[in-house]
Amino acid sequence: MKRRLLSLLVSGALVVPAAMASDAGQVLNPVPGEKASVAVWKDDKAKMNAFIDDLLAKMTLDEKIGQLDLQSGIMAVTGSQVNHQYEDWVAEGKVGSIFNNFTYERAYPLQKRAVEESRLGIPIIIAHDIIHGHKTIFPQSLGEVASWDLEVARVGAEVAAKEATADGIMWTFAPMADMVRDPRWGRVSEAPGEDVYLATKMSVARVQGFQGDDLAATDTMAATAKHFVGYGLSQAGRDYHSTDISDHELWSQQMPPFKAMVDAGVATFMTSFNDLNGIPASGSKYLLTDVLRDQWGFEGFVVTDYTAVNELVPHGYARDDKHAAEIAFNAGADMDMVGKSYMDYMKELVQEGRVSEEKIDHSVRLILEMKWRLGLFEDPYRYFDKERAERDILTEENLELARDAARKSSVLLKNDNAALPLNLESIESIALIGPLADSKFDMIGNWAAAGDRRTQPVTMKEGLEARLGDSVAIHYAKGATYAHLHDEEETSTHIGIRSVARDVRGKPAHARMIKEAVEAAKKADVIVLGIGEEQRMSGEAASRVEITLPGTQRELMEELKKLGKPMIGVVFSGRPNDLSWEHQNLDAILHAWYPGTSGGHAIADLLVGDYSPSGKLPMTFPRSVGQIPIYYNMKNTGRPYNAENPNQRQEHYKSRYDDSPNTPLYAFGHGLSYANFEYGEVKLSSETLTMDGELTVSVEVTNRGEHGGEEVIQLYTRQMVGSVTRPVQELKGWQKVHFDKGESKTITFTLTAEDLAFYRADMSWGAEAGEFQVMVGTASDQVQKLGFTLVE
Ligand code: NOJ
Repeated sequence: MKRRLLSLLVSGALVVPAAMASDAGQVLNPVPGEKASVAVWKDDKAKMNAFIDDLLAKMTLDEKIGQLDLQSGIMAVTGSQVNHQYEDWVAEGKVGSIFNNFTYERAYPLQKRAVEESRLGIPIIIAHDIIHGHKTIFPQSLGEVASWDLEVARVGAEVAAKEATADGIMWTFAPMADMVRDPRWGRVSEAPGEDVYLATKMSVARVQGFQGDDLAATDTMAATAKHFVGYGLSQAGRDYHSTDISDHELWSQQMPPFKAMVDAGVATFMTSFNDLNGIPASGSKYLLTDVLRDQWGFEGFVVTDYTAVNELVPHGYARDDKHAAEIAFNAGADMDMVGKSYMDYMKELVQEGRVSEEKIDHSVRLILEMKWRLGLFEDPYRYFDKERAERDILTEENLELARDAARKSSVLLKNDNAALPLNLESIESIALIGPLADSKFDMIGNWAAAGDRRTQPVTMKEGLEARLGDSVAIHYAKGATYAHLHDEEETSTHIGIRSVARDVRGKPAHARMIKEAVEAAKKADVIVLGIGEEQRMSGEAASRVEITLPGTQRELMEELKKLGKPMIGVVFSGRPNDLSWEHQNLDAILHAWYPGTSGGHAIADLLVGDYSPSGKLPMTFPRSVGQIPIYYNMKNTGRPYNAENPNQRQEHYKSRYDDSPNTPLYAFGHGLSYANFEYGEVKLSSETLTMDGELTVSVEVTNRGEHGGEEVIQLYTRQMVGSVTRPVQELKGWQKVHFDKGESKTITFTLTAEDLAFYRADMSWGAEAGEFQVMVGTASDQVQKLGFTLVE
């Protein structure tokens, strides 16, 4: 092996890492007697700085610019540009990091080329979008948030990191912390929902799960806070669209998860595609430097989104790619994803004095620091271990954790006449019907990294068969189509191109499918539907103007309804859908999101009552698309509508619709259980709270049902009068607690003035004295309200 890196280090370097790898598995120790462990020197900043100073001094300008470039392999492309020469560029030192190119077979040789062929042998970072699992796929991110269980989020990320690093990936582009209010936007499936408090906690838990407490450990990976910032409010739910967000809104609703991730030590940030108040986020010095670095003290590096630098041109913010590179880099975007504008123009920009070499050195330093922290200078091959890939991926334990996460994430939206759990004493046969009842392809949702879609995922049909054996007959029929675009086409997915051979062969085929389903249903005691959206209908570049269930699913359900049998819908989808028809016509609805590799087992657990549903909605479900944006923490308006007023004439000139209630179909925080939770009277320790005091809020909750189960007890507040108008409700705390049958527990929350702090009229942060309401309950629309006063 040509040990370029090693010779670089041994020749003039003052500081050398303790151990250098020569090849996968074999470790050299260039400094006899000094065999420091990674843990010892990972935090040794002085040693790291000396090493990087030395390395920087040896680098040419071209080599430095190379470190600023990130290129994509061909595995999960999300833009029109791919540069197929990327492997040679790695060998030439023109590219410092790679994504969409993983597995031992693909990534190890590339690292070898970087280390052995490039002049300085600087290792590359290998990245991939590890969003909700690597090969063991956990529930779609939004679904995982519906668990309201930080441990579910942390463990999901931890398992993902363990598996991804075993496949040679050391950097993930997650968590996505874009706050969302528009279910038309396909990317809500990747988001942490509409509530900033819940999203902040979940995002931090994910960072902790990915990164652990030691980035150099071979089973942890660098995380990315994305997309900074505002992307979640893309206008009209159309992907990549503009955003216009007031300062109050930006700082109260969009910034907090990002700031919290900086505080939690997130390794990197990704810019967002949108323009924000007229400035594209990828070229915003205010966001990337003034806020992120100067105000928040972020110490990692910033990567742009895919070709986002070049996109400053169509945004109308840069004249050409060279100008775009100048703007983005000077704004604070250290690394350019795919677009090559740094690669092509940075040298000229330096020579022309439009970019300073000091600034280049600074960005390169941040990237090299990350390489150091990942342990790559100690051993560039530390993440390539074939045995680990075989040992750590898709293990029984991981599959079981994914099953548990899916159970905890599913939300029981409706359950009339205790239609669920299925009564196995009286049911002899089930009709299992619908396009998602047995679709492996869809179970793992979008952005499913290296998840296998063909054999591994367990469908609802398989899960029920495994659980019920011969005790209950299952009559299956697909029954409907669920396509929304063209009926037959080649479609690009995040794991490549797949050829879609659909069932749509015109009307006769629909009729035949429905007939088969009706025949199956006639034989059964109960109908269980697997309905929803194809997985590709949410995720990136997957916006919809209609959010009802697509294809011929409605027609199917209308026909089945005529049989008069109990109908239970299990919905698989990455977004809040308009389920108004289903709400009126089905007896029970379980929202399973895309539940992941073990999803079918988890759903069977829930349907038969082995486990009680405990998920709560992280996003409001509208009655119709016309209500969007609809979210629970709205403002009151000057003319709030009162649906309870018996004299509705008085309510005419109020903030309302002529053709729909204002209220959603299912509110934020909604989710039923097989247990029956009774809330006692909410009690406050005092009617006043001082600025440095505490207020205790307590409530006794009793499970009066026949099943044990978990409940999410939610705490909200409202500031009645503020120096800026305040939301009608804001989540300030929750507790997820298990109750056995008949069990009572007193649940206690503590509120302080800091919990009531917000961005005041002058944008200062703090609480204001005055009247407040505190609300406690099982969902945002089912709370008890009490008043208290915050006093100076
Ligand atoms: C574009 C997406 O917006 C971003 O979230 C993702 O990480 C990159 N593509 C890389 O795949």
